[in-house]
Amino acid sequence: MKFRRLGSSDLEVSEISLGSWLTYGGNIRGDQARACVEKAFEVGINFIDTANVYAHGRAEEFLGDVLKGRERGSYILATKLYFEMPGGDRGLSREQVHKQIDASLRRLQTEYVDLYQCHRYDEDTPLEETMEALSEVVRAGKARSIGFSEWSSEQIQAALDLPGVEKFVSSQPQYSLLWREPEEEVIPLCAANGISQIVWSPLAQGVLTGKYKPGQAPPEGSRAASQDSNGTMGRFFRAATLEAVQRLRPIADALGLSIAQLSLAWVLREPNVAAAIVGATRPEQVEANAAASGVTLTEGTLEAIDDALTGAVAA
Ligand SMILES: NC(=O)c1ccc[n+]([C@@H]2O[C@H](COP(=O)([O-])OP(=O)(O)OC[C@H]3O[C@@H](n4cnc5c(N)ncnc54)[C@H](OP(=O)(O)O)[C@@H]3O)[C@@H](O)[C@H]2O)c1
Repeated sequence: MKFRRLGSSDLEVSEISLGSWLTYGGNIRGDQARACVEKAFEVGINFIDTANVYAHGRAEEFLGDVLKGRERGSYILATKLYFEMPGGDRGLSREQVHKQIDASLRRLQTEYVDLYQCHRYDEDTPLEETMEALSEVVRAGKARSIGFSEWSSEQIQAALDLPGVEKFVSSQPQYSLLWREPEEEVIPLCAANGISQIVWSPLAQGVLTGKYKPGQAPPEGSRAASQDSNGTMGRFFRAATLEAVQRLRPIADALGLSIAQLSLAWVLREPNVAAAIVGATRPEQVEANAAASGVTLTEGTLEAIDDALTGAVAA
């Protein structure tokens, strides 16, 4: 496993990290989820991403339980706030920032998180209030650093321009072979300002494994086969997209990689990406995905990938 510096922080995160949306504390059995986290540590992953809202707090509770026996300094833990919690709490007001960090720390059974992220931008709270509250959280020792997820370049710049507050070190956008929107504005702005990308759905929720074949029902037990979990996969389920992903197979085969490993190596080719946050329902997936760390793709391979995906890139 290779490690990359997270923006201007002193955190060194594993290039492949473990996410916990739609999986832990909810849809995946506890023992299976625990096996995934244990496998992650075994293969060198040190970076785990969660959020207060995942499984309404139960993802954090699960992680708190699984991680409590480990030396706190041996892993890097990131969580988030913004989306509505049971009871109606939501947003990035000062009151919410303080309330939600304390609730997350309680569920995670830890005194601090390494990275505290705004899950989205809050249009209803002045940015100054949010940034001051996040700075108070850092200065109280409850978070080592701060980040955001899916902010526009204007919103990022406005935060950078505020004096006297802690600086963001990470940006968490969706980024994959099939979703390249951050390349246009967010990556250049962040690269120039000490902010790394830690990217979500780098496998397009499993579509970039090639396991979903055009014209066939999704495999049993997969995310796309689950009514509880497949609600946001629609945009990747066009026949043209699934066919294009199958065209990646010979490229991956020639390199001795799976389509998933090729796809993860592709996001990691971007130096501003510190980590690909990958979800996993089985320990075998964690192990296979971790092997994408350290794979370098040549210009010829990158061109072949783009040719294969012509017309299939959603953004
Ligand atoms: N900031 C945000 O707004 C935001 C949004 C979404 C996600 N995230 C974060 O990013 C993480 C990753 O996103 P994600 O889980 O949506 O997407 P992903 O990593 O692109 O896809 C993960 C899913 O693909 C399948 N998979 C993974 N590796 C596989 C392999 N080697 N072979 C076959 N199938 C494999 C698994 O599902 P099945 O086995 O069920 O098919 C797994 O749960 C989340 O856990 C979360 O921490 C953040």
